[in-house]
Amino acid sequence: MSDLKVKDLRKVFGRRAGVVAIDDVSLEVPQAEMLVLVGPSGCGKSTTLRCLAGLENPNAGVIEFGDQTIFDAQRKIAVPIHRRDIGLVFQNYALWPHLSGWNNIAFPLKSRWISRAERRRRVGAIAEVVDLDRALLDKRPGQLSGGQQQRVALARALVAEPKIVMFDEPLSNLDAALREQLRSEIRRLHEEIRFTGVYVTHDLAEAMAVGDRVAAMTDGAIVQLGRPDELFTTPATSRIARMMGYRRVCVITREDGRWSGTDCDFSGPAPDGPATAYELLARHDRITVARAGAADSSDHVHRVRGGVVAGVGYLGSEQELNVDFKGRDVRLVLPLDRTFAPGDRVDLTVRVTDTRTFPLTERIDASTDQETNT
Ligand SMILES: Nc1ncnc2c1ncn2[C@@H]1O[C@H](COP(=O)(O)OP(=O)(O)OP(=O)(O)O)[C@@H](O)[C@H]1O
Ligand SMILES: [Mg+2]
Repeated sequence: MSDLKVKDLRKVFGRRAGVVAIDDVSLEVPQAEMLVLVGPSGCGKSTTLRCLAGLENPNAGVIEFGDQTIFDAQRKIAVPIHRRDIGLVFQNYALWPHLSGWNNIAFPLKSRWISRAERRRRVGAIAEVVDLDRALLDKRPGQLSGGQQQRVALARALVAEPKIVMFDEPLSNLDAALREQLRSEIRRLHEEIRFTGVYVTHDLAEAMAVGDRVAAMTDGAIVQLGRPDELFTTPATSRIARMMGYRRVCVITREDGRWSGTDCDFSGPAPDGPATAYELLARHDRITVARAGAADSSDHVHRVRGGVVAGVGYLGSEQELNVDFKGRDVRLVLPLDRTFAPGDRVDLTVRVTDTRTFPLTERIDASTDQETNT
């Protein structure tokens, strides 16, 4: 049985002509699964989570935790947040500033009928799991680093062994190295404690690392829900493909039954849909850049000729290249072993197996090519 079931959830902010934050959101989370909601800013991730937690009242839909209906708009059921048996972890830690780390963690146990000795045992045990020692637990949040505060918040969310643990961007306030460290610790915690989790992030790498399954959201709706590798290898829409790090290589069109690229040599398998124009996207890390004329000429690659390097930037161990094709910008991330300078004339090649085609819609224009993989 699923621990969490959501059906046709809708939330509108404001009365007349309000903002539809989420619409028709449905999902199920089996016991002990970690489901991640990922998508660009404003797509409705936090709103979905806040509806599940009881921090927002949806306008329509049903939410069930196990066999208990905790929200049903039609039947006017809305179980208040403190009776939902959840643990919550927020971006800003949300700890009690006047309580020590220890007492912050013990807080959820105080409202339940749990003996003092048992409280002490549980706080001690969970503090060990999240790697907080006694000296740190005696300090107040203001005396702890961000990473330590988030460990306290994690322990507080888990200590009462709630049915469902919810996270809203828990790592976004931390620096990159700490983010990676805590990300794998959350993964380990989940494997150890096997709680059912819903985790919100705008960061794709985090979503892939933490989630057993990932729900990709855009514009208030879940567009694709699957294992991380499924979203990566078979993105359902071009926006999801872009979120997964694919970039538009060129547009192909059909004329008299023949396919040709508008600015590439198209030689791959033809799309089998009804549209007459498709965009060809490729994993940005699989696109090869070569000086004009030197590009791979085998049958299994797409070639895009006539690019000019517009900009080069450095991203630590990789470089970012902006290549201009007649005013269209393609942003690539490459290893550092090749050097390019602005003004270099280049061709792109990509293996057919690393590309995906999607019907070209008017909404996808050149500007969305610059969408980052968040
Ligand atoms: N309290 C509110 N009042 C009015 N509009 C709101 C409120 N909360 C959210 N919204 C709107 O609902 C939409 C979804 O917001 P939400 O916070 O769920 O996005 P998000 O995916 O969590 O984004 P982010 O990654 O920036 O946190 C946005 O258009 C937002 O402006
Ligand atoms: Mg949010």
